[in-house]
Order: sequence, then C-alpha cells, then structure tokens
Amino acid sequence: LSWIGLLLISAYLLGSIPTGYLAGRLVKGIDIREIGSGSTGATNVLRNLGKGPALVVLLVDAAKGVGAVALVHGFFALTGTSVIPDTWKPWLVAVVALAAMLGHSKSIWINFTGGKSAATGLGVLFAMSWFVALSVLIIFIGVVSISRIVSLGSIAAAIAVAVLMIVLAQPLPYQIFGIVAGLYVILRHRANIQRLLVGTEPRLGQSASAEM
Ligand code: G3P
Repeated sequence: LSWIGLLLISAYLLGSIPTGYLAGRLVKGIDIREIGSGSTGATNVLRNLGKGPALVVLLVDAAKGVGAVALVHGFFALTGTSVIPDTWKPWLVAVVALAAMLGHSKSIWINFTGGKSAATGLGVLFAMSWFVALSVLIIFIGVVSISRIVSLGSIAAAIAVAVLMIVLAQPLPYQIFGIVAGLYVILRHRANIQRLLVGTEPRLGQSASAEM
C-alpha cells in the first residue's frame, strides 16, 4: 500500500510543476497569477506571454499527465504483479491521473494555486484511452473555433470525457475517472462560467477583463 502512496505523491508532484508560472517569470518577469484570468494554464499564458510560451506550456502540462500515467505502467513493468495485483491497475491509473490533475491546479510550489487542469487532463486521457482523448480534443477544437472562447471548449470537453467514457463502455475505473475529472475541471471554471453568463468572458485575441 505504501507503493500506491508513493505513486500518488509522485504523480501529484509531477502535476505540480508550475510550467505557466515559470514561463511568466522567465519570459516577462511577472507573476502570471496576478494578470488576466489568474490561471497558470496555457490560455492565460497565450493571453499575456504570446503563442510560443503558450504552446510550450500546453505541451509540458499535457506531458505531465502522460508522465503520471506512465509512472504506473513503469511500476508494473518493473515489479510485475508481485507488489500490486494486475486487476488494480486501471484503478491505480485513474487515481494517479486525478492526482496529477490536482497537482497542476493546486501546486505545492506556488501556494496551492495553478491552472484548471484541462491540458494535464488531456494528457492523462491520451495515456488512458487515445480514442476518447482524440474525440475530446476534436470537440474542444470545434467549440473553440466556433466560439473563440477557450473556457467554453474546456467545459464542453470536460462533459464529453464523462459521456464518452460511459457511452464507449470503458473500464469502470475510467468511467468514474471521467465523471470525477469532468466535474473537477468544470468546478475549476467557476469564474469563467460566471463571466460566460454575463457575457464578459474574453474571446481569443482579446485580453482578460476579470480576475479569477
Ligand atoms: O483550460 C483553461 C481554459 O479553459 C480557461 O483558461 O485563463 O481563460 O481561465 P482561462
């Protein structure tokens, strides 16, 4: 059981790497949490630091998710089923994925602040079920290209994860992951939802008008 704890903590710490925050400090010497939406995610980086840094942050944040799930696979590759039974693997993948997402939005290095876990969520998803991930990515891109609002795309994607996991009859732990992760990402978008409702959520190319 202590191995499970170690895997969870490792995934949390991996998710905790404050990519967007570091980008703000390195590129402009600013605290990204004090400007725009206050999020350390790629969208706020795009808004305030530009396309290059945003792409790097997006890729690294997604890679943190892939890496977290890879930890579980690596663990089983090393130990076989001698430490943790094989049947636990999908459950372990699901909780490790959630731990990485939690780390990204509540990073231990920046006072438990961070992003909204959409990119890291997409990363873990690609490592869990590439077909669901690809479908979710297509939905995200579709909604963002039509609306020009990233948060709307993230919220649609969060709903799609839960629905697709269930409709495509993925393993039970993945279905539960889809519901929990989807709800978590939507919850992280509370401020965005309020702005969407009153019509002040910035579109791509506009600067943010409200704080997180
Ligand atoms: O993934 C985050 C995105 O959906 C919203 O980011 O900075 O507009 O709150 P932001």
